[in-house]
Amino acid sequence: MKPAPGGKVIAIDGPSASGKSTVARSVARSLGYCYVDTGAMYRALAWHCLQLGVDTRSESAVMAACRHWKTRLHRLEGDPDEVVLLVEGYRPTAELRTAEVAKAASDVAVVAGVRRWMQQVQRDCARFGSLVMEGRDIGTAVFPETDFKFWLDASSEERARRRGAQGVVDNLAYRDHQDSQRKATPLMPGLGAVRVDTTAQSIEQVVTSIVTRVSGEPQVKAAGPD
Ligand code: DC
Repeated sequence: MKPAPGGKVIAIDGPSASGKSTVARSVARSLGYCYVDTGAMYRALAWHCLQLGVDTRSESAVMAACRHWKTRLHRLEGDPDEVVLLVEGYRPTAELRTAEVAKAASDVAVVAGVRRWMQQVQRDCARFGSLVMEGRDIGTAVFPETDFKFWLDASSEERARRRGAQGVVDNLAYRDHQDSQRKATPLMPGLGAVRVDTTAQSIEQVVTSIVTRVSGEPQVKAAGPD
């Protein structure tokens, strides 16, 4: 799917703790685009399911929760503006950052029907204008036609170090394995995505290189063998 006429989508995909969130927010701020954290949307669904006592590994139960969800996307004003998914009018924040919710988010994200539902919600974000959208499948499934795809990664040691420095207890190995092995749109770079290794680069260096590319010509290489 193409972004709305006149709107651009910058897809920033990669594994947990690869630097996506900080970089994506900063790119959105530089360009005046809306920022969208699609991981937070899976986390919001997982949190909602946990609140309802829904088994996050049961396809039928999670799909029923999706069907009853009165989906509300909301544009939050800020620097940058952000499009968020509300849960019955409420915006969970700290609640989404627990290890329990991180694991449950990875679990609900395995379910093919849930991914289709969520990808549709995420495409709808384009009505708010140009977007910087971070996730795992933006360049492969949500906006595969966008001209701007970036794949961020860092060494596993560096990713674990960053999580530790943030004081976050994460199940990185569990999520990495499940996110990359699932059948439905697994974690992988979109066709033609520019790969950025953030292990030894500063945030500023990565942001500058992305903003420079986006301000120039479309960077996605033509399909075909490298
Ligand atoms: O980026 P994050 O850690 O907040 O994402 C939480 C989980 O959501 C992650 O383990 C996998 C899933 N996810 C996904 O499958 N697709 C996305 N586009 C974003 C997140």
